[in-house]
Amino acid sequence: MAITLTIDKQTATVPEGSTVLEAAASIGIKIPTLCHLDGVANPGSCRVCLVEVEGARTLQPSCVTTVADGMVVRSNSKTAREARALSVELMLANHPWDCNACVRNGTCELQDLAKKMGITEVRFPYGQDEVPIDDSTSALVRDMNKCVLCRRCVEVCQEVQGVGTLAPRQRGFDTTVGVGAGDNLCDAVCVQCGQCSAVCPVGAIYEKDAIKDVWAALDDDSKHVVVQTAPAIRAALGECFGLEPGTCVTGKMVAALRRMGFDRVFDTNFTADLTIIEEGHELLKRLKEALVDKQETSLPQFTSCSPGWINYMEYSFPDLIPYMSSCKSPQQMFGALAKTYYAEKEGVDPKDVVVVSIMPCTAKKYECDRDEMNDSGFKDVDYVLTTRELGRMINESGLEFLSLPDEEQDAPMGMSTGAADIFANTGGVMEAALRTVYEVVTGRELPTDGLHVEPIMGLDGLKEASLTFTDCADTFKFLEGVTAKCLVAHGLKNARQACEMVANGESDHVFIEVMCCPGGCIGGGGQPRLTTNEVRMKRIQAIYTEDEGRAMRKSHVNPAITQIYEEFLGEPLGHKSHKLLHTTYAAKSDSDA
Ligand code: FES
Repeated sequence: MAITLTIDKQTATVPEGSTVLEAAASIGIKIPTLCHLDGVANPGSCRVCLVEVEGARTLQPSCVTTVADGMVVRSNSKTAREARALSVELMLANHPWDCNACVRNGTCELQDLAKKMGITEVRFPYGQDEVPIDDSTSALVRDMNKCVLCRRCVEVCQEVQGVGTLAPRQRGFDTTVGVGAGDNLCDAVCVQCGQCSAVCPVGAIYEKDAIKDVWAALDDDSKHVVVQTAPAIRAALGECFGLEPGTCVTGKMVAALRRMGFDRVFDTNFTADLTIIEEGHELLKRLKEALVDKQETSLPQFTSCSPGWINYMEYSFPDLIPYMSSCKSPQQMFGALAKTYYAEKEGVDPKDVVVVSIMPCTAKKYECDRDEMNDSGFKDVDYVLTTRELGRMINESGLEFLSLPDEEQDAPMGMSTGAADIFANTGGVMEAALRTVYEVVTGRELPTDGLHVEPIMGLDGLKEASLTFTDCADTFKFLEGVTAKCLVAHGLKNARQACEMVANGESDHVFIEVMCCPGGCIGGGGQPRLTTNEVRMKRIQAIYTEDEGRAMRKSHVNPAITQIYEEFLGEPLGHKSHKLLHTTYAAKSDSDA
């Protein structure tokens, strides 16, 4: 049923159940908000969205007030404007005034609100006791001095990810956002996905900055610094420079990295293609063990690209470890090969090679610090920068990003296919794997529209697809007539459902893709803020367009992949591959946190 109301003397007609905030937006009136975040949080706690509603005794928070027929709202009255400004002023009185030195300077929602509301003085004294900054993990920093108690981080951690590390503590004026039972993130079961840092409106939770370390490596002439960029960066980095979400900036990104001094600009897409070869062979091996050798084997096979997901599985579903692909993530495969294959080929001492990753993900900082990630004989990946950090670093370098030419990545570890591009999106690793596995098994291209697998595209939390193998090549006759059922989950709350299906013996899938962050890597915790579903869809479309524009769209046709097997690795799942490209996982308990 449609509801008609008046807001600032304008008529709005909206569906029943809409909020005043939504009704105002539908007629072009933007009421300011802080705690509200579409699709994530609506605790109604900040009081920044107060409006006058005729007949109500007090001002109402528009984000949680539902519309009623004939309602008369004034969002722009003196009373409403002053009440909203007072809410912001009170927050400022409890917030350190070091804006110029804050990581969020220029991107802070509180700063922005103060500016828009014309607040030029704070009439209340700063009255907060300082608490220590928590930088106890590899990925995230929490500065609770700057917390405005909007609870977006709590909502995303509990309701979207279902992890529940962050929770409010105490009540009233004493309320804080705490972590588990301890004081620091390292004391809690935190998967380090950084979704909290992606929704924080101020500088209270942010990625641990590696910019200074990377500049130091670039400034050191004795170092050979190579960089890899994850598939999801190219569809989001432009947002740091004012471009619309979903503007692909691959060429400008490469040009910027080269001008900043990286000795080689490579691409994580290269090892995404390699992942498909290794993971695809691993899946076919497990299927053969089950169907031909009649051995006990672990099916379905879970993908293993997403470190937040790995962390979650090790803590929450350790019994599922045998189901995980043993493949390292593309980031870590790249690091191990950069300090072996590439160093040997280039004639550089691997001890002098510094590997920098540009990732959409804060958990990648944690992943490169894992004890086992040193198969090259050195720390395989030295530093990880998020997309946001790369944006800041480009600004520090003085480059005019938008004026840069488009350039291409360096060979050989910069060559990749469209299948690697789509690793960025939920469903992308699965689609990339199916493109290769189907063709290897049948000798024919995937028989779907434009090589896409429609049922696993888009933002549904759990997505399924089935594929039947017919006219199989001789080696794969055991798959004749077999229907492979696949499942895709993104966001850890959905991942939990997938895990429970497998743990309870209710899954008839052979392959399950899990990405920790909603939307997959394009929605990673290190991407430019704010990542709404609309933004996710725009980035996803940009990635599919990038894929569709490629001459090579299947990982197994990448000549650089053929070359690395011929020159260095030998064969998929061979001895060298196992040493450099595969890994192990370990059950963790709360006491390991
Ligand atoms: Fe409405 Fe915070 S945005 S109360």
